Amino acid sequence: MSNSIINLQTAENQQILTIKPPKTGLSLQGTLKIPGDKSISHRALMLGAIAQGQTTIEGLLLGEDPRSTAECFRAMGAEISPLNSQKVTVQGIGLGKLQEPLDVLNAGNSGTTIRLMLGLLASHRDRFFSVTGDASLRSRPMSRVIKPLQQMGAQIWGRNNNSLAPLAIQGQPLKPIHYQSPIASAQVKSCILLAGLMTEGKTTVTEPALSRDHSERMLQAFGATLEIDSKTNSVTIIGGSTLTGQTVIVPGDISSAAFWLVAASIVPGSELLIENVGINPTRIGVLEALEMMGADIALENKRLVTGEPVADLRVKSCQLKGCTLEGDIIPRLIDEVPILAVAAIFAEGTTIIKDAAELRVKESDRLAVIASELNKMGAKITELPDGLEITGGTGLKGAEVDSYTDHRIAMSLAIASLNAQGKTTIHRAEAAAISYPEFVETLQQFRGSL
Ligand code: S3P
Repeated sequence: MSNSIINLQTAENQQILTIKPPKTGLSLQGTLKIPGDKSISHRALMLGAIAQGQTTIEGLLLGEDPRSTAECFRAMGAEISPLNSQKVTVQGIGLGKLQEPLDVLNAGNSGTTIRLMLGLLASHRDRFFSVTGDASLRSRPMSRVIKPLQQMGAQIWGRNNNSLAPLAIQGQPLKPIHYQSPIASAQVKSCILLAGLMTEGKTTVTEPALSRDHSERMLQAFGATLEIDSKTNSVTIIGGSTLTGQTVIVPGDISSAAFWLVAASIVPGSELLIENVGINPTRIGVLEALEMMGADIALENKRLVTGEPVADLRVKSCQLKGCTLEGDIIPRLIDEVPILAVAAIFAEGTTIIKDAAELRVKESDRLAVIASELNKMGAKITELPDGLEITGGTGLKGAEVDSYTDHRIAMSLAIASLNAQGKTTIHRAEAAAISYPEFVETLQQFRGSL
């Protein structure tokens, strides 16, 4: 597993990734397949579990987060085949039939698992559930979903004045609401829609900007009735539909492709073809941002796969320029800010990212961690209350850095290291397995070209 350029070691319960690119002649070449989309994988497992009949999922992400979802739903009676092949089957138990689990449900590191699942649990009458997660998840705000669920009549208790996991839920019939969400969050929207599934009447969520719409697409594919008003960013679910098991083909995750899009853009002489990438319009902010920065990316072989648009992405290295990212684009690239910050270091001019305070409550405080770790490598990044200011053209030098157990930080630091002078050591690199278990292996594939 080791070579002189990219080396992974396990020590004291953590993985340490070291990367030392050669002084000259770096280039990334070839064709890549990336793992399945994390958001779609969670939703396919959840809807499969509550549908009637069998759901077959092809291309499921075999990362730690979907494993947490699968474990939770197995504990509530769904039969889910082992997550060791990309084809997974789920024997659904039908709407309203989740069983009371014998023990605490553990969502691990996954905000999507706990927040979406809460909508389902709160509306399961006469069942008691308790839910927890790892240290990161237990520090992340849950009131954003608990408050609207309480407005629907849900009974939920948690630490810190009902705002933090572990949570206890006494399921009961809920009443429909129209919720004006203060944040553009697909987790909040999806939680309420899932609660509305079993609630008589119309449950509506309006969000300030459109967040990813995978729940809407998949709920409709499974047979739920939704009304979508794109002018007001509102979605309504009509309670009482029956969901029927489906075949879901999960496209590659654009959030994982983003690491290679940036790597090939900044490492001179590179050209990569990244196959089978989901290009849902609510997710392509990273492509829009890289286009603004002057990146050379072509979308080839565009197609629709089980309701989600997909393409192959060809990316060639080129000189990037700084840009400003703010407003409605932010929810469309929310998970890609760490890797876009790396791109900005190698761009000409300054890049400003605003309206991204949400990043402070992700798997880590991403604004603080991006600034601190990349600055250790010689970047000039200033943390703003709701974003970052990145001075381009500083270059990077190898340093000792930490992922803060955040998968996207671990991978962004690894890509930054490819273009740094000298050796970088990334602590707690195992975090990458949350969304991209094959990340280091893929990186090592490039050692020939490095
Ligand atoms: C997700 C929504 C986003 C995103 C997360 C996955 C989802 O979170 O950051 O990685 O699958 O719904 P928010 O909804 O909290 O913005």
